[in-house]
Amino acid sequence: MSDTTKTATLTVDGQSYELPIHSPTAGPDVIDIRKLYGQADIFTYDPGFTSTASCDSTITFIDGDKGELLHRGYPIDQLAGKSHYLEVCYLLLYGELPTAEQLEDFEQRVTMHTMLHEQMKNFFSGFRRDAHPMAIMVGVVGAMSAFYHDSTDISDPWQREVASIRLIAKMPTIAAWAYKYSIGQPMVYPRNDCDYATNFLRMCFSVPAEDYHPDPILSRAMDRIFTLHADHEQNASTSTVRLASSSGANPFACIAAGIACLWGPAHGGANQACLEMLREIGTPNRIPEYIERAKDRDDPFRLMGFGHRVYKNFDPRAKVMKESADEVLELLGVDNNPTLQVAKELERVALEDPYFAEKKLYPNVDFYSGIILDAMGFPTSMFTPIFALSRTVGWISQWKEMIGDPQNKIGRPRQLYLGETARDYIDIENR
Ligand code: SDX
Repeated sequence: MSDTTKTATLTVDGQSYELPIHSPTAGPDVIDIRKLYGQADIFTYDPGFTSTASCDSTITFIDGDKGELLHRGYPIDQLAGKSHYLEVCYLLLYGELPTAEQLEDFEQRVTMHTMLHEQMKNFFSGFRRDAHPMAIMVGVVGAMSAFYHDSTDISDPWQREVASIRLIAKMPTIAAWAYKYSIGQPMVYPRNDCDYATNFLRMCFSVPAEDYHPDPILSRAMDRIFTLHADHEQNASTSTVRLASSSGANPFACIAAGIACLWGPAHGGANQACLEMLREIGTPNRIPEYIERAKDRDDPFRLMGFGHRVYKNFDPRAKVMKESADEVLELLGVDNNPTLQVAKELERVALEDPYFAEKKLYPNVDFYSGIILDAMGFPTSMFTPIFALSRTVGWISQWKEMIGDPQNKIGRPRQLYLGETARDYIDIENR
């Protein structure tokens, strides 16, 4: 934490309180209110945490006005163009880009952990075939603590490291097996002679009768999607992982909690909801009807894949994703994809509409990702599992940072209580 000399003065009922101000390396200053309740017997109030910093972090920074996203200082568009997912994992976990030797060692460690304990297959068969793959991922990841006991003691740095590698390595296998189970095909094992993205595509689309060898452009596009979703400051699912971890829960349980939170359509579930919305719109001539619904305060409909709590400019990830969509669809010979045409026209119309301009609503990471994944052959139900797979390294990096922080304590928010004050019990015959 930066040394502070600046203070903010809060005056309540004529009494003034000096609150320290801490300055960041980037972004807004923060007012430190940790001692406020003890000094002034008053809480602050911020449902949804729109103005509240829950922690300090050195991992990711977003400048919402500029539409800038930095991972350990490196801009996301440079990482998406020049790096690859496992190198970005190393950067997020350890703070610096790896040397060639460090990267080779890290990739080898991940490769050696891609298989699941064979008995974990039984968890998949316990679900109905039509179970949403996110339900399966929440269950299977939470169950990992029942199989990998030697990496659940969070007080042991070595066990924290092993749990981190295991989760990053096994998530593609879990997501692919959830998909295979949902379509009634046999699970495909990972291979050590494939890179991370190719392995995932193979486990999803190979069958015993015929192996699947993805075009390198598709593997690259898959890897880029992983990179674009890797981490994003203190979003809802990352905050869930941090809060769950603050009680000392094991890392597998905490990541399962993050997966559950990500599933919501306001968060990671938006990629599935967005493609379903684009399909429902169907043709460009129906766009005005949906734009009007999105603007109608009495209509709960919102443009999925649009808007963001932090970005008040283009989400830089959406820009890269849009370029990747053109590349993948052209490769697959579906560049006249009607859904992509609707998406591009919807973006154009929305960005010209004063409602969206005034509220600074732009396409976010979920607006174009589903179009690429759909073209690759994934059902919409696999979109959020792929987001969860990608974000595992972000959750883990933030978890490690928090566990290693000596200031770490259990998260326990307070409330503005508006309920009944104390009253006596009424026997049922007197009610
Ligand atoms: C992700 O936090 C992260 O970093 C998340 C994420 C990550 O990488 O972890 O970036 C991933 O979750 C991206 C967001 C995916 N969700 C969607 O695309 C769902 C659609 N978007 C919205 O639900 C909404 O924009 C949120 C949830 C993303 C943000 O909501 P906020 O910050 O609480 O903003 P808000 O609801 O207060 O909206 C401000 C105004 C409101 O109008 P008023 O009440 O002021 O009149 O903008 C309107 C909203 O009604 N608005 C929209 C809109 N999003 C906001 N109107 C129409 N369509 C939309 N999509």
